[in-house]
Amino acid sequence: MSSLFITFEGLDGSGKSTHLRRAVSWLEERGVPVCQTHEPGGTPLGDAIRRVFLDSQWGQIDGRVEAMLVFASRRQHLLELIEPTLAAGTHVLCDRFTDSSCAYQGSGRGLPADWIDQLDLLATERRRPDVTLYFDLPATSAYERGRSASRWARGDVDRLDDENLAFYERVRHRYLELVAADPERFRVIDSDGDKENTWHQVEAFLEQIFRPPEVTP
Ligand code: TMP
Repeated sequence: MSSLFITFEGLDGSGKSTHLRRAVSWLEERGVPVCQTHEPGGTPLGDAIRRVFLDSQWGQIDGRVEAMLVFASRRQHLLELIEPTLAAGTHVLCDRFTDSSCAYQGSGRGLPADWIDQLDLLATERRRPDVTLYFDLPATSAYERGRSASRWARGDVDRLDDENLAFYERVRHRYLELVAADPERFRVIDSDGDKENTWHQVEAFLEQIFRPPEVTP
């Protein structure tokens, strides 16, 4: 099997990052070579961009500036980590990729789709993951989870947490359009239930893709 580039997408509060970590452990326990990474970030330069991108001190950043930041991080990530890792035979599980830019900067911030497409062409040559797990839940549920008292008490909040519900409604709507436009690549995970229910769907996907080859007697 050639190595796979698998991305995890969804609204903040959708549970994708928790399940990505669990998926990585599941693969490691079975001896499958896997690299866990995230966007924006994934390289020293990308993580520096991430800190700037999420820092609440900037307040609202212009949507085009946001898009240029995330695509700058993405190009470095592809060149420095993602492509070399895949070429070395290791699967890459990445928390967010270009679909996030289409949803957050495209629909959330209202940037025209062809601007995102031009940046995507420049930065990634329209690189797409092999598979994308999209963790779906109503924007209201994600919003409530994201604003949980315990999360705010931990100080685990960033610049995009200041967005209102209408922003997250637009982001989810765009994700669903992306899924509809590329059903072959996307696998929709219903993450509106409890954690175990969500995990069973992720595990079913992993079992299907990484099933050990059958041994013929
Ligand atoms: P995370 O909390 O899932 O790591 O993502 C950080 C935030 O960055 C999240 O609110 C979504 C946002 N984001 C974008 O707006 N555009 C992008 O292209 C990416 C990768 C993330």
